[in-house]
Amino acid sequence: MTWILALALGYLLGSLPFGLLLTRLTGAGDLRAIGSGNIGATNVLRTGRKGLAAATLFLDLAKGLVAVLLARALWPGSEVIAAAGAVVGHCFPVWLGFRGGKGVATFAGVCFGLALPVGLVYAAVWLAVLALARVSSLGGMSAAVAAPIAALVIGYSDFVPVLVVLAALVLWMHRANIARLRDGTEPRIGGSKA
Ligand code: G3P
Repeated sequence: MTWILALALGYLLGSLPFGLLLTRLTGAGDLRAIGSGNIGATNVLRTGRKGLAAATLFLDLAKGLVAVLLARALWPGSEVIAAAGAVVGHCFPVWLGFRGGKGVATFAGVCFGLALPVGLVYAAVWLAVLALARVSSLGGMSAAVAAPIAALVIGYSDFVPVLVVLAALVLWMHRANIARLRDGTEPRIGGSKA
């Protein structure tokens, strides 16, 4: 029963579409009609509103972190389920007809909540690839793949299965980005389309 509650808690928190809400509330336009159409911080950045993009990144990360910490406090041992629920909720929010974001920031928050060292590796890989390649999707996917590897190496093997599943989900959500990366058409941060 507590697992169902943790799943529901994680899903409901994860399904809050902060990027869409913030851009709508501030009159920055309909995010789904801009750039990649994604509801994440990278696409908010394409509206030209850097502060709004930073707020989206923070809130999307925070909802993953809060889901894990709340589940751990309320129903110890259920935090892995809440973590999965949060990333799935972000990617498939019921409020948006199950068409949500790609999970990178929420996965980061979940990693920080499950195990701080894994979260730090996630953030380091994300930032390093972003700085080197200046392609948001590549940074996010690299960090997602690094998470289960970091958990295994650092000694959080209990978390490895869920992190593998969530990394696979993040990669799946980026399938259009992967196609563009292959074609050489994926926009760079600060480029003409991003
Ligand atoms: O977190 C989303 C990012 O990895 C890619 O976003 O808008 O370039 O598809 P976007």
